Amino acid sequence: MNPKSIHDAKIAVVDDETANVQLLQRILKLEGYTDVSGYTDPREFLDTCRILPPDLVLLDLMMPEVNGFEVLKRFQESVDDFDYRPVMIITSDDDRDTKQKALSSGARDFLAKPVSPVEVRLRVGNLLQTRSLQLELQRHAERLEERVRSRTVELEEARLEILERLALAAEYRDDATGEHTRRVGRECAALAEALGLPSDQVEDIRRAALLHDVGKIAVPDSILLKQGSLAEDETEKMREHTTVGASILSGSRFPMMRIAEEIALHHHECWDGSGYPDGLKGDQIPLAARITSVVDVFDSLTHKRVYKRAWTTEEALDEIERLAGSKFDPVVVEVFLRMHGRVASPNASKPCEDDGKEAG
Ligand SMILES: [Fe+2]
Repeated sequence: MNPKSIHDAKIAVVDDETANVQLLQRILKLEGYTDVSGYTDPREFLDTCRILPPDLVLLDLMMPEVNGFEVLKRFQESVDDFDYRPVMIITSDDDRDTKQKALSSGARDFLAKPVSPVEVRLRVGNLLQTRSLQLELQRHAERLEERVRSRTVELEEARLEILERLALAAEYRDDATGEHTRRVGRECAALAEALGLPSDQVEDIRRAALLHDVGKIAVPDSILLKQGSLAEDETEKMREHTTVGASILSGSRFPMMRIAEEIALHHHECWDGSGYPDGLKGDQIPLAARITSVVDVFDSLTHKRVYKRAWTTEEALDEIERLAGSKFDPVVVEVFLRMHGRVASPNASKPCEDDGKEAG
């Protein structure tokens, strides 16, 4: 039914007397209603209304096969929005109890037999106007919901863009293109997927890994861009990028941000417990941080920085493989190597060494 016009409403007249059905159809058609179906067998009506439920039902109560109360009950069971599809009882039974029973069964109005055309037109018009307004309200609510949904998506996109820009700002001083950050996000997602993580976690890791070094904002250029080894206090300052990053990201209610906080804090932990800041060991290190750790080191090795040349892919893969079981989770390394077309050799492991310089 088009809420703008009640005259194309779908109306069903259910009465075992053919003459009554025809009279009501005639009155309604003369009033301009174009879709008025008549049923003398209520079972036929019930079969049809499951597929094409009417906007309004004019229902007789006293019928031999299935009485009006039973029809009302089954109609109610067969449609989801019974409350918005009015049923008007047409009966010669003026008994108060009957009316009360029909009302409590969900009927919305009564029409006494013999029917008056004026009364039929008035009551049908009123019931359909109400239904039309309810439909209009329903559509309005749906449009509002759609707007809220699309605004929520926009807000989410804006939030993610801000986070990405924050990550790029942290990366800017030693990689003005920001490509390291983006590559780490992409590779971490690919590795998480290869490890068999569910797709929503893969997407969270893709976004969260971008922020792994956000705490570098607090590291002075003199340390961040220094060529050669760092002094002890400089190493300490450099290592603080993990705790600073975690504190920037802490306290969020979004799962992705909680993963980002874990990654920022723990992406320099080592599988053998020799990493920082907390010296976590093995499975104590969150999986997302173990993934980011491998990807971050590999990407840093294979790209030039002011203090180092770019390693070849083969050299970097060798290094990752050697550090499996000491610096890195051996299972994560195995899957990472397979992603790069390699099979891990069984005894590759050397102690974790970290001079504080980012990713070796
Ligand atoms: Fe880092």
